[in-house]
Amino acid sequence: MSEVLRELVLRDRLDKKIQELPALPSAVMRVVQESEKLEPNTDKIESYISADQALTSKVLRVVNSAYYGLSGQVTSVSQAIVILGLQQVRNLALSVGALSVFPTRTPHHEAIMSRFWMHAFGTAAATQLIAERKRMGAQTAEVLLIGGLLHDMGRLLLYSNFTEEYEQILDYAINRGIVIERAERVVLGMNHAEIGQEMAVRWRLPSVITSMIGHHEGPFDGSEDTIVYGVHVADAITKHLYFPNEPRPEESLDPIADSWLNLSVRDLDELREQTLERVLEAWSGFAEAA
Ligand SMILES: [Fe+2]
Ligand SMILES: [Fe+2]
Repeated sequence: MSEVLRELVLRDRLDKKIQELPALPSAVMRVVQESEKLEPNTDKIESYISADQALTSKVLRVVNSAYYGLSGQVTSVSQAIVILGLQQVRNLALSVGALSVFPTRTPHHEAIMSRFWMHAFGTAAATQLIAERKRMGAQTAEVLLIGGLLHDMGRLLLYSNFTEEYEQILDYAINRGIVIERAERVVLGMNHAEIGQEMAVRWRLPSVITSMIGHHEGPFDGSEDTIVYGVHVADAITKHLYFPNEPRPEESLDPIADSWLNLSVRDLDELREQTLERVLEAWSGFAEAA
């Protein structure tokens, strides 16, 4: 099959998969509905989340790895609600639920998903360190955390529906020495950031989240909301920890985001180490539920 034809066929299948995006898990939908009521019932929200073990485990892992000073201390959903508030726990459940809609089919696929989760947790944790350094304020930090978790959800759709083809795309990128986003664009006509953006629109996620997902890979021209730079930098910090072939942070940082961040290579390395520590700590505290 010619390259062009192959691209057209893949693009057609990709469009279909985006259109047929699975609904969010029912536990998550119940949480969202309850939290949107005038007087949400905290007990109900807690029980909806707690009834889903995988959801609970992942929400607690994010909480324990991303929030400063909470490492290993939050062991229940009710505790998380008390400390972080209903709204943020709802947002975390929604994000984790959105990342869980694609089933894992094979052990190989499971291994990929496990790395994906590590990267998502790592990016989420890194957003908080960056928010702290840049004094971004608590509310911005909360939104940034969700962006960190969800930024690569387009990759999830690709991994899940095009496992073999996506691995070929990754090989193609490595062999040609180009970044993955470019290879995705060449083969699929869209990169994973743009796919994630489409997914976010379909799931009606808030526009600030949609925009972080859609633009996290750059390139930037300086007109973007700085929250997008925050996700971009957090992503760059955790990329090569979990995907050994990815370039080092200082190589994959967009120059505009880099100058916004304004950190030396040494400080970047320190951020990277701190992030890794937090994630590994939170990771080891829970049973596998990827
Ligand atoms: Fe990405
Ligand atoms: Fe990423």
